[in-house]
Amino acid sequence: MLTLRTISSLGLVALVMLTGCRQDMHDQPRFKPLAKSDFYADLRSARPPVEGTVARGQLHEDTYFYTGKVGNNPGDYMPFAVTDEVMARGRERFNIYCSPCHSKLGDGNGMIVQRGFRAPPSYHTERLRKAPLGYFFDVMTDGFGAMPDYASQIPPRDRWCIVAYIRALQLSQNATSADVPAGQKVPSTPPEFRGDPGSGATLPELAPVSSSEKGEAEK
Ligand code: HEC
Repeated sequence: MLTLRTISSLGLVALVMLTGCRQDMHDQPRFKPLAKSDFYADLRSARPPVEGTVARGQLHEDTYFYTGKVGNNPGDYMPFAVTDEVMARGRERFNIYCSPCHSKLGDGNGMIVQRGFRAPPSYHTERLRKAPLGYFFDVMTDGFGAMPDYASQIPPRDRWCIVAYIRALQLSQNATSADVPAGQKVPSTPPEFRGDPGSGATLPELAPVSSSEKGEAEK
């Protein structure tokens, strides 16, 4: 027959077992973050990833595409074909990310520079005209001196589009009439203004095209 005493001691046993379970959940065999551990020879409980581990989406097998380098030196070719779409993308991205300092022309006189930031060198110097394509990619990827890197803002493909556009800018600023294909007229005769061109706040009025040029255009 169950006495009050046995009932209460059974209850006590049950209580102890239950709290025991609860304690197990609290004291799991785990390490506190970065705690010391005698289990491993280097005493670090936080284990480095197994050698050769690659995070998802981070397998950058095509090294040239991601670094612009062949071995330790910048390469001088595009990792994909340059199309109209690539050039348009390059121009758009360049004007957004680079022109504030380098200017839309690439002469290094962008708005931020006009307001006091250190002036970058012009892209139209002998040295930078001869610089290989991969060099420009590398400057964007890792930064250069006072210039921050743009690796997190501009994905690799867009960086290459900008590289292609910079080369086009360089060509545009150093072209001679010999670069114009035979039979084509350079279209950019400077416009003539009627009177004073003004401050630029309003569009200047163009002088009427002279009759000889009109004849050319109509041909
Ligand atoms: C915040 C202003 C700023 C922006 C934006 C900027 N640059 Fe620069 N860049 C500089 C400065 C300043 C230098 C010169 C750094 C130095 O000599 O310490 C420079 C230098 C360079 C050089 C020349 C490196 C050399 O060998 O002399 C290249 C190429 C270049 N930038 C490309 C770019 C491209 C491409 C972008 C757009 C993705 C860009 N920069 C955006 C400020 C800027």
